[in-house]
Amino acid sequence: MAEFDVIVIGGGPGGYVCAIHCAQLGLKTACVEGRETLGGTCLNVGCIPSKALLNATHHLHEAEHNFAKMGLKGKSPSVDWDQMKAYKQDVVDGNTKGIEFLFKKNKITWLKGWGSIPEAGKVKVGDEVHSAKSIVIATGSEPAALPGIEVDEKTVVTSTGALSLGKIPKSLVVIGAGVIGLEMGSVYQRLGAKVTVVEYLEAITPGMDGEIAKNFQKILTKQGFEFVLGAAVSGVTQKNGKASVTYKLRKDDSEATIEADAVLVATGRRAFTEGLGLEGLGVEMLPRGVVKVDGHFQTSVKGVYAIGDCIPGPMLAHKAEDEGMAVAEILAGKHGHVNYGVIPGVIYTTPEVASVGQTEEQLKEAGRAYKVGKFPFMGNARAKAVFQAEGFVKLLADKETDRILGCHIIGPGAGDLIHEVCVAMEFGASAQDLALTCHAHPTYSEAVREAALACGDGAIHA
Ligand code: NAI
Repeated sequence: MAEFDVIVIGGGPGGYVCAIHCAQLGLKTACVEGRETLGGTCLNVGCIPSKALLNATHHLHEAEHNFAKMGLKGKSPSVDWDQMKAYKQDVVDGNTKGIEFLFKKNKITWLKGWGSIPEAGKVKVGDEVHSAKSIVIATGSEPAALPGIEVDEKTVVTSTGALSLGKIPKSLVVIGAGVIGLEMGSVYQRLGAKVTVVEYLEAITPGMDGEIAKNFQKILTKQGFEFVLGAAVSGVTQKNGKASVTYKLRKDDSEATIEADAVLVATGRRAFTEGLGLEGLGVEMLPRGVVKVDGHFQTSVKGVYAIGDCIPGPMLAHKAEDEGMAVAEILAGKHGHVNYGVIPGVIYTTPEVASVGQTEEQLKEAGRAYKVGKFPFMGNARAKAVFQAEGFVKLLADKETDRILGCHIIGPGAGDLIHEVCVAMEFGASAQDLALTCHAHPTYSEAVREAALACGDGAIHA
C-alpha cells in the first residue's frame, strides 16, 4: 500500500494532464489506468487514430481530384488498407509512449489496472489498496448503446471498430450525423464507400450554428454523402456479412430499409462510471451515470473530485484537459478555473468546421442584439490556390459594444483559425480589435480578419 497526495483514476486526456500538472505543482501523484497504454479513448481509439486516417484519405482525395489540375499527372495511388491501419497505429504508439515518458519525467506512479473507491481516501487497484488525500475520477465515456442494435465491432461497429474494419466497405450506413459519424464517414467515403447517414433530427451536427450546418451538409452531399434526415433507426439485422438498417421517417411514420456492408453506430457517448463503487461511496449522481460536481469539481463526497466526459458539459478532450489542469491547481491550494464560454469545437472533415461561443440561434433565443460579419473563403487568395475556397467565416458581435460573442468557421484550417478568436474572446476583445490586428498575407486567417471588418465598415475582398 502506497500513500499519495493525489490518485487520478483514468489516464485519458483529462486524467493524464491532471496527473502531470499535480506533479508539476509538487504533489505526490499516481494515475490508475487499466488499458495497456496511456491516453484513454482519445489517443488509443478516438481523436488521434481518426486524424491519421483522415490525413491519409485526404491525400488520396487530393491525388484523385486535384493533382492533375496542378500539373501533377499520372496514376493516383492505390490503397493498401493494412498499411494505412499500420500507419495509424504507429501514430497512436508514438503518442502513448510519449505520455509514458512524461509520467516518468514527472515521477508519476502508473498504477496498472482498473481502479475503484472502497472508501473516501482509498483507491483499490487489483488486490492492492492505496491511500490518497484527494482522488480525481477521470474515467471518461463509452459509446451509448442503441436499443435493437447489436454491435459486433466487425460489421456493426462503434467508433472503435470503425478504425479497424477488416476491409474497406463498398457501402456504409452511419447512424447519427454527429461529429464521429461525419469524420469516420468522410474516411470511408474518400476510400470509395457509398456513405448514407441516417439522422434523427432535421439537420446534421446538432447544436452547431444553423447556417454553418446547412452549408456543411451541402458540401458533404457534393462530396458524395447521402443524408436521410428526420429518421429514427429502429433496428439493424445481419445476414451473410451484410447489414440491413431499418428506420422510420418521423414526418409520416413510413418505414424503409437500407442494406450495407458495414454500419457505424454514432449516436452519442455516455459517462463511464460503472464499477467505481460510487453508489456505495454515496457520491451523488445525475442521470445516465454522470457524476455531479460543485464549482470546484468536488463530488458530494469530500476529497473525491471528477472531471471530463463523466461530468456535465461537452464531451471533448480539451475540455477534460482544462478541467484536469484546474483541479490540479485547486488541490495545490491555487485558483483553478475553466471558462466554459470559450471552449472551441472542431470537426476534422475537409473542409474543417470549427466554432466557439454562441451560435446565432442562441443569441436570438436570448433576445440579444447582435451583428454578423461574414466572409467567404472565395475571397481568400490562399484558399483558392489550394482548391479549398468553399465555406466562410461568421463572426458574431454585440450590436452595441462590438464585443465578440461567437465565431463559426467552415473552411481550410478552421480548427486552427478558431483559436485567434478564442484568445480574443478570453481578453474580451471587440470585432474591431481583431480587424485592427495585422494578419499576414496570404493566409487563411485573413478571412477571420475580413469577417471582423464585416462587423464594421465592411470587408475589403467581398
Ligand atoms: P453526437 O451526439 O455528436 O451525435 C449523435 C447524433 O445521433 C445526433 O445527431 C442524434 O440526433 C443522432 N441520433 C441519436 N439516436 C438516433 C437514432 N436512433 N437514429 C438516428 N439518429 C440518431 O454523438 P457522436 O458523433 O457519437 O459523438 C460522441 C461524442 O464524442 C460527442 O460529444 C462529440 O463531441 C465527441 N467527439 C468529438 C470529436 C471532435 O471534437 N472532433 C470527435 C469525435 C467525438
